[in-house]
Amino acid sequence: MSTLKNDTLIRALLRQPTTYTPIWVMRQAGRYLPEYNQTRARAGTFLALCRNPDLATEVTLQPLSRFALDAAILFSDILTIPDAMGLGLYFSDGEGPRFERPLREEWEIRNLFVPDPDQHLRYVLDAVAQIRRALSNQVPLIGFAGSPFTLACYMIEGGGSADFRALKTMLYRRPDLLHHVLDINCRAVTAYLNAQIEAGAQAVMLFDSWGGILTHAAYREFSLAYMKRIIAALKREHGGSRIPNIVFSRGGGLWLEEIASIGCDAVGLDWTVDIGAARNRIGNAVALQGNLDPAVLFAGAETIRLQVQQLLDAFGHGSGHVFNLGHGVSQHTPPDSVAALVEAVHELSKRFHQSLPPGI
Ligand code: CP3
Repeated sequence: MSTLKNDTLIRALLRQPTTYTPIWVMRQAGRYLPEYNQTRARAGTFLALCRNPDLATEVTLQPLSRFALDAAILFSDILTIPDAMGLGLYFSDGEGPRFERPLREEWEIRNLFVPDPDQHLRYVLDAVAQIRRALSNQVPLIGFAGSPFTLACYMIEGGGSADFRALKTMLYRRPDLLHHVLDINCRAVTAYLNAQIEAGAQAVMLFDSWGGILTHAAYREFSLAYMKRIIAALKREHGGSRIPNIVFSRGGGLWLEEIASIGCDAVGLDWTVDIGAARNRIGNAVALQGNLDPAVLFAGAETIRLQVQQLLDAFGHGSGHVFNLGHGVSQHTPPDSVAALVEAVHELSKRFHQSLPPGI
């Protein structure tokens, strides 16, 4: 059993007492850090960076040497799975991710297979193991994957989309085909996350970035049902430690009770949600992660502090909150803003974790 020097994140995810509110930041290793851009330039491309465990380890650790973050997150991408399925992932400048061979024809969908993580995603598992060694138990390492639905969005559209026309056309015309894709993705994500846990990930997160584009009924059938299957099949313990999981559906604020009921340990919130109201709705069942508007980081340290205070006040006293942004940190963020954020969360949150509520 490994003993973490700082297990505040794990404890908060399991709603156990902590002395302050832990914080990590979605996309904490990214283009807002000059040292990231240097390593990425050395690698050549973003994908080369992901595929090189030495360099992936280096960039995973970069934000931790600048800021007192309470977790590391594996440096990789959600689209490694469809890439391993042979769809040919590439990134064109300014356009985001694209696939050379998106799913267009029924036969392409029928030919989809579940990649074996040990074989097709070895480079990710190697990175996980190497990052764990480099962290030497300072803070936990979070592993992650995209949700089956969010992966299907990219696989069917061939990249990002403004209206998800191809995806939604399939959803309403050929729901059977979409379900086939989702079933394969579901099995692929389950195997991938369990392999990350075996390799050393100490918490795991499902990113459902596009679930919020669906109707409530479609969300339930095409996104949530598959995440529920994954959660039920995830390893909950490894090497004698609990492995908590987090589910983040961007735009899922209206459906929090249903998300909380799939058996996950924590629910990620985007910034449109009032975290106090969310706690009243689901805080007895799960921990909450979030949810500062990433744009707050374009303001000065004083405003950041004020916004942190308001968010901590809204959550209130006690454990079960992991501070984060409501979505990934923008590449235009000054690194000093992230420093101010981490400092404010650590300092201002202490009084919410004393045995008596503040003011009593
Ligand atoms: O949070 C972290 O620090 C861990 C690494 C991580 C990345 N992507 C690195 C990355 C994680 C967890 C992701 C998840 C991811 N990737 C999601 C889900 C979260 C979300 O943003 O909704 C999605 C939808 C993707 C797909 C993806 N990858 C997109 C849309 C893009 C382009 C985004 C952009 O800002 O241009 C990427 C590229 C990407 N993934 C970058 C990073 C650091 C930028 C790559 C670069 O160096 O150019």
